[in-house]
Amino acid sequence: LQNLLAAGVEGRTVLVRSDLNVPLDGATITDAGRIDASVPTLSALADAGAKVIVMAHLGRPQGAVDPALSLAPVAARLGDALGRYVQLAADVVGIDAQARAEGLTDGDVMLLENIRFDPRETSKDAAERAALAGELAALTGGDGAFVSDGFGVVHREQASVFDVAKLLPHYAGTLVAAEVDVLRTITEGAERPNAVVLGGSKVSDKLAVIEALAPKFDTLVIGGGMCFTFLAAQGLPVGSSLLQEEMVDTCKDLLDRFADVIHLPCDIVVADGFAADAEAKTVPADGIPDGWMGLDIGAESVSRFAAVLRAARTVFWNGPMGVFEFERFSAGTRGIAEAIIEATADGAFSVVGGGDSAAAVRTLGLAEDGFSHISTGGGASLEYLEGKELPGLAVLDDAPSPTAPSAP
Ligand code: 3PG
Repeated sequence: LQNLLAAGVEGRTVLVRSDLNVPLDGATITDAGRIDASVPTLSALADAGAKVIVMAHLGRPQGAVDPALSLAPVAARLGDALGRYVQLAADVVGIDAQARAEGLTDGDVMLLENIRFDPRETSKDAAERAALAGELAALTGGDGAFVSDGFGVVHREQASVFDVAKLLPHYAGTLVAAEVDVLRTITEGAERPNAVVLGGSKVSDKLAVIEALAPKFDTLVIGGGMCFTFLAAQGLPVGSSLLQEEMVDTCKDLLDRFADVIHLPCDIVVADGFAADAEAKTVPADGIPDGWMGLDIGAESVSRFAAVLRAARTVFWNGPMGVFEFERFSAGTRGIAEAIIEATADGAFSVVGGGDSAAAVRTLGLAEDGFSHISTGGGASLEYLEGKELPGLAVLDDAPSPTAPSAP
């Protein structure tokens, strides 16, 4: 971004891709983390006199207008965060967006309506995406630039993330640069002992990241719904807990190869149903009764995992340890988060990898600044750590890449 600011943006129209995909309860934003994280880049551009057009998506509207997924609440919240009025175009590249783009004055910020209302945004057909990218670029009136700042979407080969970068001078925003810097440290410069904590429901979502990180980390703690497939791989009964049958053999293989690294829970909080007020009890991990389902890791597991985490110098955490949305099954996630916060206070470098774990930090009222970094990217952070090439980064010449030195 500094390169663009140095080149001068006063009076120029700058298209910015941000990730403003925030959780909503009706029209209420329940976690504005991604909106707040988009502020530094947008403020810097508006302060420097650019006419800023923000592109963002909300949910997965399947290429059609869905009023429930309008960016209206996001525009209002973004305006509060920026301390500037943010106008919302009624469409993506239609008459309203075009007229508003022409009417922008220096320092104005406009948000286009949910970019995924246009089916070309997510099309698999490169020509369709290129057509939308052309219309987006045209909004800048010829002297524009593109800033990629939506770290949470850089793993998507979509028109506003990937194709538009081919049509305009393009730059990495401060959020993208910061996220890549942090994740590079996790994969390349992690001080030992280092630990990864993985949770969430599906082993299949985390398989590639386990493969990538297990050889580089001293400890890999596994909790959450995915731990039951690992327990089943050890031949243990898991009752009615979440189980990915087709992954049991893969988990066996991982346990064989990384026996010293992978740590599984030794006790489990089981319930007689999936409900906030279900009957619950703690049982040993090898004693899950028939008909009961594991909804959290037990207190003994928390205390063992916490001991390892407190001693770590680098911690990466992705995925809750249990159904933290239900208070009585939130102790595992809270306990692990608190151990990571303690380690951080003691000088460790800690990263919370987006998605559900970032939501858990905020829902449980934990201090966000207790961690070194809370990523805005769920899938994007994981794909980065898996070592995959992310299209939205690869297309930027000046983006920090896993191999090149950072030049944001
Ligand atoms: C996310 O929420 O991880 C990003 O905003 C990307 O959204 P998507 O998974 O719908 O592409």
